[in-house]
Amino acid sequence: MNEPPLPPKPAPEVDFPIDRVEAEHVSRREFAKFLCLVSGGMAVGSGWVAIKDKIFPPFRIQGEALVCRVSDVPVGGTHPFTVEGSRIPFILIRRNDGSFRAYEQKCTHLACAVYYSPTLDKIQCPCHSGLFDAATGDVLEGPPPRPLPRLEVVVRGEEVFVREPRQEERA
Ligand code: FES
Repeated sequence: MNEPPLPPKPAPEVDFPIDRVEAEHVSRREFAKFLCLVSGGMAVGSGWVAIKDKIFPPFRIQGEALVCRVSDVPVGGTHPFTVEGSRIPFILIRRNDGSFRAYEQKCTHLACAVYYSPTLDKIQCPCHSGLFDAATGDVLEGPPPRPLPRLEVVVRGEEVFVREPRQEERA
């Protein structure tokens, strides 16, 4: 039995009649324009990064902020919270030894919400398996480039407060 003949192969030169020499030609002026545009964009971007924090200073807690009562958080439990004047999500953790820690709840990799695992006593990020030390916020595993931003926890009687860590602790 005879096979039907195959259709002819496409001929790019016929189907897309672009003069190759013309298509590959980039004038010096066009190249210089492109370079100016790219380097100008990079200069503007770098400038913005340099002055952004001066124009929009990062949020800082003034004094102490009340989070909850000690009895609101069981041992091994967590309590999500925000601080007045900011929408940054934080998480208060009551570790298995009863101590409290407070961290920003956004992973430092791509900002997924992290959660505390009382079984591991570690903070996990479900997006790319990031793992943080629950005691310090330091990165233990995975792609996060920095520790979780931390707040200092102060327990006064039955009440739990947070405040900015002292300068030397923040560094
Ligand atoms: S967003 Fe957390 S590890 Fe990627």
